[in-house]
Amino acid sequence: MKLFKKLMALSVASICAISLAACGGSKPAETTAASSEAKEESKAAESVSEAVAATGKDAKDIKVGISIYKFDDNFMTLYRNELVRYLTEEVGIPAENVVVQDGKNDQAEQTNQINNFIATKVDVMILNLVQSSSAPTVTDLAKEAGIPVVYINREPDEAEESRWAADGIKATYVGADARQSGTFQGEEIAELANKGDINGDGTVKYIMIQGDPENIDAQYRTEYSVKALTEKSGLKAEELLIQRGDWDQAKGQQIAQDALTQYGTDVEVIFCNNDAMALGALQAISAAGRKVGEDIYIVGVDALAEAVQNVSEDKMTGTVFNDFISQAQAAAKAAVSFTKGEKVDTKIPVDYVKVTKENAAEILELVK
Ligand code: BGC
Repeated sequence: MKLFKKLMALSVASICAISLAACGGSKPAETTAASSEAKEESKAAESVSEAVAATGKDAKDIKVGISIYKFDDNFMTLYRNELVRYLTEEVGIPAENVVVQDGKNDQAEQTNQINNFIATKVDVMILNLVQSSSAPTVTDLAKEAGIPVVYINREPDEAEESRWAADGIKATYVGADARQSGTFQGEEIAELANKGDINGDGTVKYIMIQGDPENIDAQYRTEYSVKALTEKSGLKAEELLIQRGDWDQAKGQQIAQDALTQYGTDVEVIFCNNDAMALGALQAISAAGRKVGEDIYIVGVDALAEAVQNVSEDKMTGTVFNDFISQAQAAAKAAVSFTKGEKVDTKIPVDYVKVTKENAAEILELVK
């Protein structure tokens, strides 16, 4: 499926709502007819380049510095590829002007990269921080150099975001609200016929496989998944184990394997803060001879193609689409708006989408 069509299948309105000028006032195109697709695609690209040209800075002269917390992350790889594709193909920035660095999960390394971006005078930075707690320092570096920053994926805290607004600092955060993804996970379990209570004792016993706990996504997904489950189901929930798996498949597998050995059939639900860890946990579930949908449930977040495929085949209970396409495009548009000297909101939200068997095929079309 062509990416432009994917974009249209998503909420274009929500992307445009963040910055009217970034969307160049262009109307979302009607996309059903394949013949109109190419035309609309070039129109959309044109509207962005026209908007850029209007301020004197042509797309071909914009320099963007991007640093991703680490390249070795399934979700951030999808995000990064779409970000670069959009900036080069849709906005028209030459590939050599889009510099993408691997933060290697090391904040000191990433801060060096940011200093290099500043030294080479990029026009704007798009940053997926290793530690979101570094945002105040990084923002100050960028501010002194007069370079705007678009933070993505790992949200700086509220005090930092309020400071941008209060002091007129050119910084924004583009991302989804992790409370929503946690809530969707809890609802997916609560909406099952037995509400996740396999043995019918009125308490859902679960294990929680967490991402990096410094990350607000991990904190909120952990809290809100259980909150939604108990609120919607009216049942109690009992945490057998909570352990950090750092968003990593191999760690997810190990944690699930140990938990299934220790707690056996007591485990009714496995909550995973992301799909990579859920895919690992699924390997442990099948190695333990357990069957999803019959004697255990498991949910993740991200909607990696493999996870969505599993949901469609009843091998996984559900996931939540972490819409990297809309996030990447909104981040790129915010970056372009900054280079034009436009005002950009301090927060640009993108919605999550619940993924269950009912819509898995449709979501798979978007992500595969
Ligand atoms: C995603 C994870 C990813 C993390 C990186 C989260 O929003 O769900 O899969 O590893 O971001 O920060």
